[in-house]
Amino acid sequence: MADQTFLNEINKRRTFAIISHPDAGKTTITEKVLLFGKALQQAGTVKGRGSNQHAKSDWMDMEKERGISVTTSVMQFPFNDSLVNLLDTPGHEDFSEDTYRTLTAVDSCLMVIDAAKGVEDRTRKLMEVTRLRDTPIVTFMNKLDRDIRDPMELLDEVETELNIMCAPVTWPIGCGKEFKGVYHIHRDETILYQTGQGHTIQEVRTIKGLDNADLDAAIGESLAEQLREELELVIGASHEFDKELFLSGELTPVYFGTALGNFGVDHMLDGLTEWAPSPLPRQTDEREVSADDEKFTGFVFKIQANMDPKHRDRIAFMRIVSGKYTQGMKMNHVRLGKQVSISDAVTFMAGDRERAQEAFAGDIIGLHNHGTIQIGDTFTQGEKLKFSGIPNFAPELFRRIRLKDPLKQKQLLKGLVQLSEEGAVQVFRPLINNDLIVGAVGVLQFDVVVARLKSEYNVDAIYESVNVQTARWVNCEDEKKLAEFRRKCEQNLALDGGDNLTYIAPSRVNLNLSMERYPDVQFHQTREH
Ligand code: G4P
Repeated sequence: MADQTFLNEINKRRTFAIISHPDAGKTTITEKVLLFGKALQQAGTVKGRGSNQHAKSDWMDMEKERGISVTTSVMQFPFNDSLVNLLDTPGHEDFSEDTYRTLTAVDSCLMVIDAAKGVEDRTRKLMEVTRLRDTPIVTFMNKLDRDIRDPMELLDEVETELNIMCAPVTWPIGCGKEFKGVYHIHRDETILYQTGQGHTIQEVRTIKGLDNADLDAAIGESLAEQLREELELVIGASHEFDKELFLSGELTPVYFGTALGNFGVDHMLDGLTEWAPSPLPRQTDEREVSADDEKFTGFVFKIQANMDPKHRDRIAFMRIVSGKYTQGMKMNHVRLGKQVSISDAVTFMAGDRERAQEAFAGDIIGLHNHGTIQIGDTFTQGEKLKFSGIPNFAPELFRRIRLKDPLKQKQLLKGLVQLSEEGAVQVFRPLINNDLIVGAVGVLQFDVVVARLKSEYNVDAIYESVNVQTARWVNCEDEKKLAEFRRKCEQNLALDGGDNLTYIAPSRVNLNLSMERYPDVQFHQTREH
């Protein structure tokens, strides 16, 4: 039996990420969430707005110029009786690979929707990814201080487009200039909104019950009457919150508010900490590993360079799946079959790197990586396990990369292989020549790679176009057939950064023909690390 303090530590953890379309308000919500976590004295320092919190290195300058958030970071803070780990994900779609992998490391997601716009493209895509693991979703309808769409219609749209039932927990009273607050259906109380309080934790005024003269006085008789009528309709027509359906990803509690006005974010956090799951089990090639297994296990879902110019190293982000990390403990790096002693893992209390004394299942720790750790690597206390389901996606954009100074070929290759281990880009080396082909899911990745090759490896590289349109990882059980395939298709084959055989196709037609011609060969669009 695991001891009770250990179980308590695990049970109080909530590890989640925010999914949203760019501009829906993810950064603003993150600021307010941290404000509530008392992690920041004053909200306003997440994206380098007002301060330079995250604008820390050359390629992050690029990110700043473009006004996007390229990096994934982790923030831990206490809220109510919980300890929350919020994993930030890059908002720009060019970095979706990183986002997808980050979603494998969380147990629930907050979906933020711009209530003036409704369900948008990127939210749709991200929801598809969360569906692969039935991740529980909490929804926040943002920007109520603007003129929004009809709330009932918004719920309808979420239900039909994202195929998830909506259970409103709060209900808005007016919007835009007329936004008065929300009625909390579960608590049977109205929480009144005040403008101009966005940077502080507000002293809110609440009014118990709907048939309360105070309510009529506070928001006006006709609005109060309208609210009572509307709520009757809403409660009749929408789903009631059901924890089991929430945990299986079939139903989402919905909150309304304005992140900018710091209103409603705390209601959402109350729901999230109360209902979202504590650290969930994860599947390995051998067995399912439960969070309360006392033996430590974890997997790496992201590698990131240069988080801080004072430490020019790379950090491997590890999700602890079970047990407990303590400073100086020995871990087994399963892929290498090596024991390593970890004395300097970092935690991410409120976004600042700190040395971790101990960390528990559900937490993210950062390991200093000197080139030996790859995305997808499993660490244990001896057992040979491999966590599954951390995907690599077939790139859709390809360029040949070339040096301005040909003498630096070795550094270029080293840089590219390391960047591909991080998942920043994918690199392919054709079997028939010495080209280096860089593959990306989004075009911005190309610029990041050239900027980082220059700043971290001191190589000047440029791109040329290359006749590759799509790629598939290939394998075949039958060695003879594989050998024949390799011989016949040599001009289309390459090795990726991890030496996996890849078919690089000049066109979809070519790919389809080869797939027909070699039915015993499997062509994969994603590769698990
Ligand atoms: P993102 O990370 O999802 O991309 O969104 P972000 O929080 O950066 O918000 C995008 C824009 O929407 C920002 O305005 C932000 O101030 C605004 N915003 C966020 N929440 C609310 C809200 O509740 N109400 C209103 N009215 N606006 C909101 P911006 O002009 O692009 O940036 P900034 O000049 O404010 O920094």
